[in-house]
Amino acid sequence: MKRSARIVFLTMFGAGLAGGLLASAGVAQTINLGAANSADFKILYATAQDVAEGKRVAETMCAGCHGLNGIAKQKGVPHIAGQRAVYLHLEMKVYQAGGRGHKVMTNTVKYMNDDAIMKVAAYYASLEPADPSGGSAKSAPAKPSAVSVGKAAAAGCGGCHGEAGISKTPGMPNLIGMDPKYFIAAIKAYKGGQRKHDMMKTLVSGLSEADLNNIALYYALQKPGKAQTPAPGNAAAGKAAAAGCVGCHGEGGVSGSPTTPGLAGQDAQYFVDAMRAYKDGSRNDATMKGPATSIDETSARNLAAYYAGQAPQAAKVGKPLTVAEWAERCDRCHGINGNSTDPRSPTLAAQRLDYLERVLHAYKKGERKSKEMAVMSEGLDDALVDGLAAHYARQKARGLAYLILPPPPVSK
Ligand code: HEC
Ligand code: HEC
Ligand code: HEC
Ligand code: HEC
Repeated sequence: MKRSARIVFLTMFGAGLAGGLLASAGVAQTINLGAANSADFKILYATAQDVAEGKRVAETMCAGCHGLNGIAKQKGVPHIAGQRAVYLHLEMKVYQAGGRGHKVMTNTVKYMNDDAIMKVAAYYASLEPADPSGGSAKSAPAKPSAVSVGKAAAAGCGGCHGEAGISKTPGMPNLIGMDPKYFIAAIKAYKGGQRKHDMMKTLVSGLSEADLNNIALYYALQKPGKAQTPAPGNAAAGKAAAAGCVGCHGEGGVSGSPTTPGLAGQDAQYFVDAMRAYKDGSRNDATMKGPATSIDETSARNLAAYYAGQAPQAAKVGKPLTVAEWAERCDRCHGINGNSTDPRSPTLAAQRLDYLERVLHAYKKGERKSKEMAVMSEGLDDALVDGLAAHYARQKARGLAYLILPPPPVSK
């Protein structure tokens, strides 16, 4: 039997990568040869004839949706032209096993044999990838970050709590630099009635969970500052009285726990009101009931003066990563600008925007299962999903080139 020519898949890189060293040279995909004898990798040795046969399969079974050129015209259907061959093959096996829970694709591949799957995957992998959907991706309005959404949602809070949460009105608590965990618990306590305060209850009743998270993040990330309100008590006496508070509220009122509020720089009037509320039970909290009961009005005022003079510190909350910072992490598996060099990782560059968005949500919700992607999508909010999808949709995709090699010498 005559041995046919082998086709090696090469990833073509454009100029500019690695200082131009690899420019136009093409780099063979590095494959872990430990797995090379597995059926999944057989596709890397597809022949020209396999590809031609794959095209015939595509004509009858796939072109209606994915196009014969692998560039999908319908919403929700991914481009598959130039997609990594091993990935295409793997995903078709996943559909065959019902793994992605997508009826249309599951039914399409259900009765295909391995040979046909291998060939049609080789065919689509061999095609020129789609152009970046730059137009649509760029014109889609970028969603603002969680912090800027939070800032906008907090616009109505500033009238009482001061701009950026620095109080200028006695009785109004400072919100700046507050830990989001405590902040969110406080709002929920107003909603749920553990903190009886009709005005705050009304004010926050309309806040959605998402708004609340964003507002909390916004205040947490502002540079902290003391309330700009009078603090009439005796701060020195307050300092002495604070010995019993340090264990929970921290040295100088800088709390190390996300659920214990910091007291440093807090408005003095609010502080005294809070102590009274714990005492009379209108603020129902088992932890503070004891300390508050043992403290009279004068010492509460002194404690308030002491804490109001202490310098608050920023909450230990990381600033969320930007789309670009996230993309760097994604590229570790998906290749530079989403051009995968690992045959098992899909290329994301120039994929349809709507498909990328849908798939990322599917990983987040666990509808599409992947160990790697479950971890990676967990921390993505809607704005990041949109941002990353748009980022990859507008990257230039690098196709796989064929190199037809002569058949290997036959040893006698
Ligand atoms: C009736 C329309 C339709 C037909 C016919 C069809 N597909 Fe699909 N295909 C889809 C849709 C829709 C998706 C996205 C499904 C999802 O989200 O899981 C998809 C997804 C895929 C994927 C996953 C791509 C990725 O990036 O993960 C591959 C691979 C694929 N199809 C290959 C094929 C092949 C090969 C054929 C022919 C044998 C075929 N499809 C026939 C509609 C179709
Ligand atoms: C009309 C004035 C007013 C407005 C507007 C207002 N607040 Fe308040 N807020 C208060 C007062 C007064 C308190 C103290 C209530 C108490 O004694 O429990 C408070 C308490 C709080 C607390 C608890 C602070 C702590 O240290 O426990 C949080 C959190 C808070 N407000 C968030 C908000 C947010 C978010 C908004 C905007 C959606 C808002 N507030 C709008 C007056 C206001
Ligand atoms: C055992 C731990 C513990 C000790 C001791 C303690 N606190 Fe607290 N404190 C808390 C916790 C937890 C909260 C938040 C309770 C809530 O959600 O209402 C709190 C809340 C407060 C608040 C309300 C802050 C705000 O932003 O609304 C004030 C004021 C306060 N404590 C003052 C004191 C003072 C003064 C002392 C010492 C006399 C003291 N605490 C001792 C745990 C403690
Ligand atoms: C640790 C490696 C790894 C990292 C990091 C990673 N991915 Fe993935 N990704 C994968 C693998 C493996 C798959 C294929 C999983 C499957 O079969 O569903 C995948 C699949 C995808 C898909 C589906 C593509 C398609 O054609 O259906 C998208 C979209 C995606 N990743 C986006 C991202 C984004 C955005 C990030 C960064 C937030 C990211 N990935 C980070 C390994 C990774």
